[in-house]
Amino acid sequence: MPRISISQLMKMKSEGARIACLTAYDHPTALAADAEGVDLILVGDSLGMVVLGYESTLPVTLEDMIHHGKAVVRGAGRALVVVDLPFMSYQESPLQALRSAGRLLKETGAQAVKLEGGSEMAATVALLKQSGIAVMGHLGLTPQSVHALGGYRVQARAKAAASRLLKDARALERAGAFAVVLEMVPAALSARARKALKIPVIGIGAGPACDGQVLVSHDLLGLTPGHVPRFARQYSQAHAEARRAIARYCADVRQGRFPGPAETLA
Ligand code: KIV
Repeated sequence: MPRISISQLMKMKSEGARIACLTAYDHPTALAADAEGVDLILVGDSLGMVVLGYESTLPVTLEDMIHHGKAVVRGAGRALVVVDLPFMSYQESPLQALRSAGRLLKETGAQAVKLEGGSEMAATVALLKQSGIAVMGHLGLTPQSVHALGGYRVQARAKAAASRLLKDARALERAGAFAVVLEMVPAALSARARKALKIPVIGIGAGPACDGQVLVSHDLLGLTPGHVPRFARQYSQAHAEARRAIARYCADVRQGRFPGPAETLA
């Protein structure tokens, strides 16, 4: 099956077909997401928190993103694969962003990159676009600025902040972004953004009125113990299931039930 293209995502928006996006950080998750028809797989820098055990996305490096991006690309034949530019790999200057994005695409084989920020990133997005690099924007709760924002909380509730977000979204679109993620913003604001933009608006904690939705795969699968964001829906309890399986294995080893005749080589 041919890979989903940016023009197909645009067509989906114009036809009102919802775009299903999901994060993946490894080969088996990418295989599952691709086989089940996920349109866009995001190798998010949420990697830092859900896979690498950091408290935020800030410690994630370009090397981390390349390492995991490669594994995901090897498992995704149909979905468009987008890799996050990690913290401080693009904020210094448009040229730094170009070098980092170039490495991400060359070394992972992904189709696009994502970066956080609005109007202040317009020149960067424009340079990447001119250089042939497809860019997705990310507004609202931008986790790389979690400390400056004062925590993981709903953004752009006030009128002035909502207008600023819409202005930022338009600036990203004008600069050449092919889509924009809105994270943790009021549903009514996402609805306005969806109407205001020609490019797809992908929501996470941004209500139902977006062109598509994205979830962190570990939240969807129930892979991470502890806090699950209120906006996420858990479709399985994979962590609890894994613990049950490991407990049974330990008991079988300790009581001499594993390996049994079926697992024993003559
Ligand atoms: O890093 C990530 O997983 C993301 C999503 C939350 C959109 O940016």
